[in-house]
Amino acid sequence: MAAAFRIVLFVEEEGGDWHARRLAKAMEARGAEVVVTTLTRCAFDTAAPSGLDIPGFDGRLPDGAFVRSISAGGLEQITFRLGILHALRASGVRVWNDARAIERCVDKSTATFLFRRAGLPTPATRVVEGAAAAQAHAEAMAQALVVKPLFGSQGNGVMKAATPSELPLPEAMGQVYYMQPYLRAADATEFEDWRVFVSCGRILSAMVRKSNSWVTNVHQGAAPQAHLPSYEMQRLALAATQVVGADYAGVDLIAGPDGELLVLEINSNPAWKGLQSVTDVEIADTLADDFLIALRSVPRR
Ligand SMILES: Nc1ncnc2c1ncn2[C@@H]1O[C@H](COP(=O)(O)OP(=O)(O)OP(=O)(O)O)[C@@H](O)[C@H]1O
Ligand SMILES: [Mg+2]
Repeated sequence: MAAAFRIVLFVEEEGGDWHARRLAKAMEARGAEVVVTTLTRCAFDTAAPSGLDIPGFDGRLPDGAFVRSISAGGLEQITFRLGILHALRASGVRVWNDARAIERCVDKSTATFLFRRAGLPTPATRVVEGAAAAQAHAEAMAQALVVKPLFGSQGNGVMKAATPSELPLPEAMGQVYYMQPYLRAADATEFEDWRVFVSCGRILSAMVRKSNSWVTNVHQGAAPQAHLPSYEMQRLALAATQVVGADYAGVDLIAGPDGELLVLEINSNPAWKGLQSVTDVEIADTLADDFLIALRSVPRR
Protein backbone atom coordinates (compact mmCIF):
# COMPACT_ATOMS: atom_id res chain seq x y z
CA MET A 1 0.00 0.00 0.00
CA ALA A 2 1.41 3.44 -1.03
CA ALA A 3 2.74 5.45 1.89
CA ALA A 4 0.52 8.32 3.00
CA PHE A 5 1.18 11.64 1.32
CA ARG A 6 3.18 13.97 3.56
CA ILE A 7 1.76 17.44 3.02
CA VAL A 8 2.92 20.83 4.21
CA LEU A 9 0.07 23.30 4.73
CA PHE A 10 1.37 26.86 4.78
CA VAL A 11 -0.60 29.24 6.98
CA GLU A 12 -0.26 32.83 8.09
CA GLU A 13 -0.06 32.24 11.83
CA GLU A 14 1.09 29.25 13.89
CA GLY A 15 -1.74 26.71 14.18
CA GLY A 16 -3.61 28.18 11.24
CA ASP A 17 -7.03 29.80 11.02
CA TRP A 18 -10.56 28.38 10.67
CA HIS A 19 -9.89 27.61 7.01
CA ALA A 20 -6.56 25.89 7.66
CA ARG A 21 -7.97 23.72 10.44
CA ARG A 22 -10.78 22.52 8.15
CA LEU A 23 -8.32 21.87 5.32
CA ALA A 24 -5.94 19.89 7.56
CA LYS A 25 -8.82 17.83 8.95
CA ALA A 26 -10.14 17.12 5.44
CA MET A 27 -6.70 16.03 4.17
CA GLU A 28 -6.09 13.82 7.22
CA ALA A 29 -9.51 12.24 6.76
CA ARG A 30 -8.28 11.29 3.28
CA GLY A 31 -5.20 9.56 4.70
CA ALA A 32 -2.62 12.32 4.29
CA GLU A 33 -0.15 13.39 6.99
CA VAL A 34 -0.31 17.17 7.29
CA VAL A 35 2.30 19.49 8.77
CA VAL A 36 0.80 22.94 9.41
CA THR A 37 3.48 25.63 9.47
CA THR A 38 4.35 29.09 8.23
CA LEU A 39 6.78 30.08 5.47
CA THR A 40 8.49 32.29 8.04
CA ARG A 41 9.73 29.11 9.78
CA CYS A 42 11.23 27.62 6.59
CA ALA A 43 14.84 28.01 5.50
CA PHE A 44 17.11 27.65 2.52
CA ASP A 45 20.04 25.49 3.67
CA THR A 46 22.83 24.07 1.52
CA ALA A 47 23.41 21.42 4.19
CA ALA A 48 19.89 20.04 3.76
CA PRO A 49 19.52 17.10 1.30
CA SER A 50 16.86 19.08 -0.60
CA GLY A 51 18.47 22.49 -0.05
CA LEU A 52 15.34 23.44 1.87
CA ASP A 53 14.53 23.12 5.56
CA ILE A 54 10.76 22.80 5.95
CA PRO A 55 9.68 22.23 9.60
CA GLY A 56 8.73 18.58 10.11
CA PHE A 57 10.55 17.26 7.00
CA ASP A 58 14.18 16.88 8.23
CA GLY A 59 15.64 18.67 5.23
CA ARG A 60 13.65 16.47 2.83
CA LEU A 61 10.78 17.45 0.54
CA PRO A 62 7.05 17.14 1.20
CA ASP A 63 4.92 15.25 -1.34
CA GLY A 64 2.83 18.38 -1.79
CA ALA A 65 2.45 21.94 -0.49
CA PHE A 66 -0.93 23.62 0.01
CA VAL A 67 -0.74 27.38 0.45
CA ARG A 68 -3.60 28.61 2.60
CA SER A 69 -2.06 32.04 3.23
CA ILE A 70 1.17 33.99 3.39
CA SER A 71 1.69 36.53 6.16
CA ALA A 72 2.24 40.16 5.17
CA GLY A 73 5.76 41.51 5.31
CA GLY A 74 8.39 43.72 3.73
CA LEU A 75 9.93 43.16 0.29
CA GLU A 76 12.74 40.93 1.60
CA GLN A 77 10.32 38.82 3.67
CA ILE A 78 7.86 38.32 0.81
CA THR A 79 10.69 37.58 -1.64
CA PHE A 80 12.10 34.98 0.76
CA ARG A 81 8.73 33.31 1.33
CA LEU A 82 7.79 33.21 -2.34
CA GLY A 83 11.33 31.98 -2.97
CA ILE A 84 10.64 28.91 -0.82
CA LEU A 85 7.53 28.19 -2.88
CA HIS A 86 9.43 28.68 -6.15
CA ALA A 87 12.15 26.32 -4.89
CA LEU A 88 9.61 23.66 -3.90
CA ARG A 89 8.11 23.80 -7.37
CA ALA A 90 11.58 23.68 -8.96
CA SER A 91 12.19 20.55 -6.86
CA GLY A 92 9.17 18.85 -8.41
CA VAL A 93 6.79 19.44 -5.48
CA ARG A 94 3.19 20.28 -6.46
CA VAL A 95 2.49 23.69 -4.87
CA TRP A 96 -1.24 24.61 -4.65
CA ASN A 97 -1.41 27.62 -5.61
CA ASP A 98 2.14 28.03 -6.82
CA ALA A 99 4.17 31.18 -6.32
CA ARG A 100 3.65 32.43 -9.88
CA ALA A 101 -0.13 32.30 -9.53
CA ILE A 102 0.07 34.01 -6.13
CA GLU A 103 2.32 36.77 -7.53
CA ARG A 104 -0.09 37.37 -10.42
CA CYS A 105 -3.11 37.57 -8.09
CA VAL A 106 -1.67 39.56 -5.19
CA ASP A 107 -0.41 42.28 -7.52
CA LYS A 108 -3.65 43.82 -8.77
CA SER A 109 -1.93 45.58 -11.69
CA THR A 110 -0.57 42.32 -13.12
CA ALA A 111 -3.93 40.59 -12.70
CA THR A 112 -5.72 43.43 -14.48
CA PHE A 113 -3.13 43.39 -17.26
CA LEU A 114 -3.59 39.64 -17.75
CA PHE A 115 -7.40 39.90 -17.72
CA ARG A 116 -7.32 42.59 -20.40
CA ARG A 117 -4.73 40.72 -22.50
CA ALA A 118 -7.01 37.65 -22.41
CA GLY A 119 -9.91 39.80 -23.59
CA LEU A 120 -11.79 39.52 -20.29
CA PRO A 121 -14.08 42.47 -19.44
CA THR A 122 -12.52 44.38 -16.52
CA PRO A 123 -12.93 47.96 -15.22
CA ALA A 124 -10.92 50.70 -16.96
CA THR A 125 -7.79 50.80 -14.85
CA ARG A 126 -4.67 52.98 -14.68
CA VAL A 127 -1.81 52.20 -12.31
CA VAL A 128 0.95 54.77 -11.80
CA GLU A 129 3.76 55.60 -9.44
CA GLY A 130 3.71 58.96 -7.66
CA ALA A 131 1.13 61.61 -6.74
CA ALA A 132 1.77 63.79 -9.81
CA ALA A 133 0.88 61.03 -12.27
CA ALA A 134 -2.16 60.07 -10.21
CA GLN A 135 -3.29 63.69 -10.09
CA ALA A 136 -2.90 64.02 -13.85
CA HIS A 137 -5.06 60.93 -14.37
CA ALA A 138 -7.74 62.07 -11.94
CA GLU A 139 -7.92 65.45 -13.67
CA ALA A 140 -8.14 63.81 -17.09
CA MET A 141 -10.87 61.40 -15.96
CA ALA A 142 -12.93 64.18 -14.29
CA GLN A 143 -15.09 61.64 -12.47
CA ALA A 144 -15.15 59.84 -9.13
CA LEU A 145 -12.36 57.28 -8.92
CA VAL A 146 -11.74 54.25 -6.75
CA VAL A 147 -8.13 54.05 -5.53
CA LYS A 148 -6.76 50.77 -4.19
CA PRO A 149 -3.51 49.60 -2.67
CA LEU A 150 -1.62 47.40 -5.13
CA PHE A 151 -1.62 44.52 -2.63
CA GLY A 152 -5.20 44.83 -1.44
CA SER A 153 -7.18 42.47 0.71
CA GLN A 154 -10.63 42.30 2.22
CA GLY A 155 -11.45 45.83 1.12
CA ASN A 156 -8.78 47.37 3.36
CA GLY A 157 -7.46 50.65 1.99
CA VAL A 158 -9.93 50.78 -0.92
CA MET A 159 -11.14 54.37 -1.10
CA LYS A 160 -13.16 56.72 -3.29
CA ALA A 161 -11.77 60.04 -4.59
CA ALA A 162 -14.69 62.13 -5.86
CA THR A 163 -12.27 64.87 -6.98
CA PRO A 164 -8.50 64.91 -7.71
CA SER A 165 -7.95 66.74 -4.38
CA GLU A 166 -9.29 63.70 -2.54
CA LEU A 167 -6.54 61.40 -3.81
CA PRO A 168 -4.73 59.74 -0.90
CA LEU A 169 -1.16 60.68 0.01
CA PRO A 170 1.51 58.64 -1.77
CA GLU A 171 2.79 57.28 1.56
CA ALA A 172 -0.66 55.75 2.17
CA MET A 173 -0.45 53.89 -1.17
CA GLY A 174 3.17 52.74 -1.12
CA GLN A 175 3.72 55.41 -3.80
CA VAL A 176 1.63 53.35 -6.28
CA TYR A 177 -1.93 54.31 -7.31
CA TYR A 178 -4.26 51.66 -8.74
CA MET A 179 -7.22 53.66 -10.06
CA GLN A 180 -10.58 52.76 -11.60
CA PRO A 181 -13.79 54.73 -12.27
CA TYR A 182 -16.29 54.47 -9.41
CA LEU A 183 -18.75 51.98 -10.92
CA ARG A 184 -21.75 52.55 -8.69
CA ALA A 185 -24.66 54.89 -9.49
CA ALA A 186 -24.07 58.24 -7.79
CA ASP A 187 -27.37 57.97 -5.86
CA ALA A 188 -27.11 54.25 -5.02
CA THR A 189 -27.69 53.28 -1.39
CA GLU A 190 -27.55 49.49 -1.78
CA PHE A 191 -24.57 47.77 -3.28
CA GLU A 192 -23.62 44.27 -4.39
CA ASP A 193 -20.93 42.26 -6.12
CA TRP A 194 -20.25 38.55 -6.60
CA ARG A 195 -17.63 36.14 -5.40
CA VAL A 196 -17.24 32.93 -7.44
CA PHE A 197 -15.10 30.13 -5.98
CA VAL A 198 -13.17 28.02 -8.50
CA SER A 199 -11.16 24.84 -7.94
CA CYS A 200 -9.48 22.63 -10.50
CA GLY A 201 -11.19 24.22 -13.49
CA ARG A 202 -14.75 24.12 -12.14
CA ILE A 203 -17.08 26.31 -10.11
CA LEU A 204 -17.52 25.13 -6.52
CA SER A 205 -19.98 27.76 -5.41
CA ALA A 206 -20.82 31.46 -5.55
CA MET A 207 -22.39 34.21 -3.49
CA VAL A 208 -23.71 37.72 -3.90
CA ARG A 209 -22.42 40.20 -1.30
CA LYS A 210 -24.92 42.89 -0.36
CA SER A 211 -24.22 46.00 1.71
CA ASN A 212 -25.16 49.60 2.38
CA SER A 213 -21.45 50.36 1.91
CA TRP A 214 -20.05 50.41 -1.64
CA VAL A 215 -17.10 48.26 -0.45
CA THR A 216 -18.99 44.96 -0.36
CA ASN A 217 -16.42 42.69 1.28
CA VAL A 218 -17.81 40.32 3.93
CA HIS A 219 -14.88 41.49 6.04
CA GLN A 220 -16.28 45.03 5.70
CA GLY A 221 -19.71 43.95 6.88
CA ALA A 222 -21.45 42.83 3.69
CA ALA A 223 -24.04 40.06 3.96
CA PRO A 224 -23.34 36.97 1.86
CA GLN A 225 -26.28 35.33 0.09
CA ALA A 226 -26.29 32.13 -1.96
CA HIS A 227 -26.18 32.86 -5.67
CA LEU A 228 -26.51 30.56 -8.68
CA PRO A 229 -23.87 31.91 -11.05
CA SER A 230 -25.07 32.64 -14.59
CA TYR A 231 -23.29 31.08 -17.56
CA GLU A 232 -21.42 34.37 -18.09
CA MET A 233 -20.34 34.50 -14.43
CA GLN A 234 -19.01 30.97 -14.67
CA ARG A 235 -17.24 31.67 -17.96
CA LEU A 236 -15.52 34.77 -16.57
CA ALA A 237 -14.51 33.14 -13.27
CA LEU A 238 -13.03 30.09 -14.98
CA ALA A 239 -11.21 32.20 -17.56
CA ALA A 240 -9.80 34.57 -14.92
CA THR A 241 -8.52 31.63 -12.88
CA GLN A 242 -6.90 30.08 -15.94
CA VAL A 243 -5.31 33.39 -16.99
CA VAL A 244 -3.37 33.60 -13.70
CA GLY A 245 -2.62 29.88 -13.61
CA ALA A 246 -4.30 29.27 -10.24
CA ASP A 247 -5.47 25.85 -9.04
CA TYR A 248 -8.10 27.43 -6.81
CA ALA A 249 -9.25 31.03 -6.48
CA GLY A 250 -11.93 33.43 -5.38
CA VAL A 251 -12.97 35.64 -8.31
CA ASP A 252 -14.75 38.95 -7.73
CA LEU A 253 -17.22 40.14 -10.34
CA ILE A 254 -18.97 43.51 -10.42
CA ALA A 255 -21.59 45.14 -12.63
CA GLY A 256 -20.28 47.79 -14.99
CA PRO A 257 -22.02 51.08 -15.90
CA ASP A 258 -24.33 49.31 -18.38
CA GLY A 259 -24.92 46.30 -16.16
CA GLU A 260 -22.34 44.18 -17.98
CA LEU A 261 -20.28 41.80 -15.84
CA LEU A 262 -16.67 42.81 -15.18
CA VAL A 263 -13.84 40.79 -13.61
CA LEU A 264 -12.79 42.95 -10.70
CA GLU A 265 -9.99 40.92 -9.19
CA ILE A 266 -8.90 37.43 -8.25
CA ASN A 267 -7.71 36.03 -4.91
CA SER A 268 -5.20 33.17 -4.81
CA ASN A 269 -5.67 32.71 -1.04
CA PRO A 270 -9.40 33.35 -0.75
CA ALA A 271 -11.22 33.13 2.55
CA TRP A 272 -14.46 31.16 2.27
CA LYS A 273 -16.10 31.38 5.69
CA GLY A 274 -18.78 33.75 4.36
CA LEU A 275 -19.40 31.55 1.33
CA GLN A 276 -19.50 28.38 3.45
CA SER A 277 -22.28 29.94 5.52
CA VAL A 278 -24.53 30.13 2.42
CA THR A 279 -23.63 26.97 0.49
CA ASP A 280 -24.01 23.21 1.02
CA VAL A 281 -20.75 22.50 -0.80
CA GLU A 282 -18.10 21.42 1.73
CA ILE A 283 -15.36 23.71 0.35
CA ALA A 284 -12.47 22.41 2.48
CA ASP A 285 -13.33 18.80 1.58
CA THR A 286 -13.50 19.61 -2.13
CA LEU A 287 -10.22 21.52 -2.07
CA ALA A 288 -8.57 18.60 -0.25
CA ASP A 289 -9.94 16.12 -2.80
CA ASP A 290 -8.80 18.20 -5.77
CA PHE A 291 -5.31 18.68 -4.31
CA LEU A 292 -4.77 15.03 -3.32
CA ILE A 293 -6.10 13.76 -6.67
CA ALA A 294 -3.63 16.08 -8.41
CA LEU A 295 -0.81 14.70 -6.25
CA ARG A 296 -1.68 11.17 -7.32
CA SER A 297 -0.91 12.19 -10.90
CA VAL A 298 2.59 13.36 -9.90
CA PRO A 299 5.19 10.52 -9.97
CA ARG A 300 6.44 9.92 -6.36
CA ARG A 301 10.12 10.78 -5.80
N1 LIG B 1 -14.18 50.44 -9.39
C1 LIG B 1 -15.03 50.19 -8.39
N2 LIG B 1 -16.20 50.84 -8.31
C2 LIG B 1 -17.06 50.60 -7.30
N3 LIG B 1 -16.85 49.70 -6.30
C3 LIG B 1 -15.69 49.03 -6.34
C4 LIG B 1 -14.72 49.24 -7.37
N4 LIG B 1 -13.65 48.42 -7.12
C5 LIG B 1 -13.94 47.77 -5.98
N5 LIG B 1 -15.14 48.10 -5.50
C6 LIG B 1 -15.76 47.57 -4.30
O1 LIG B 1 -14.74 47.39 -3.31
C7 LIG B 1 -14.61 46.02 -2.94
C8 LIG B 1 -13.14 45.68 -2.72
O2 LIG B 1 -12.43 45.87 -3.90
P1 LIG B 1 -11.41 44.73 -4.44
O3 LIG B 1 -12.09 43.44 -4.50
O4 LIG B 1 -10.81 45.20 -5.68
O5 LIG B 1 -10.33 44.81 -3.29
P2 LIG B 1 -9.75 43.81 -2.21
O6 LIG B 1 -9.49 44.58 -1.02
O7 LIG B 1 -8.62 43.17 -2.83
O8 LIG B 1 -10.70 42.71 -1.92
P3 LIG B 1 -10.39 41.11 -1.65
O9 LIG B 1 -10.50 40.89 -0.23
O10 LIG B 1 -11.47 40.45 -2.45
O11 LIG B 1 -9.02 40.78 -2.14
C9 LIG B 1 -15.26 45.24 -4.07
O12 LIG B 1 -15.75 44.01 -3.58
C10 LIG B 1 -16.36 46.18 -4.53
O13 LIG B 1 -17.48 46.06 -3.71
MG1 LIG C 1 -12.11 41.67 -3.68
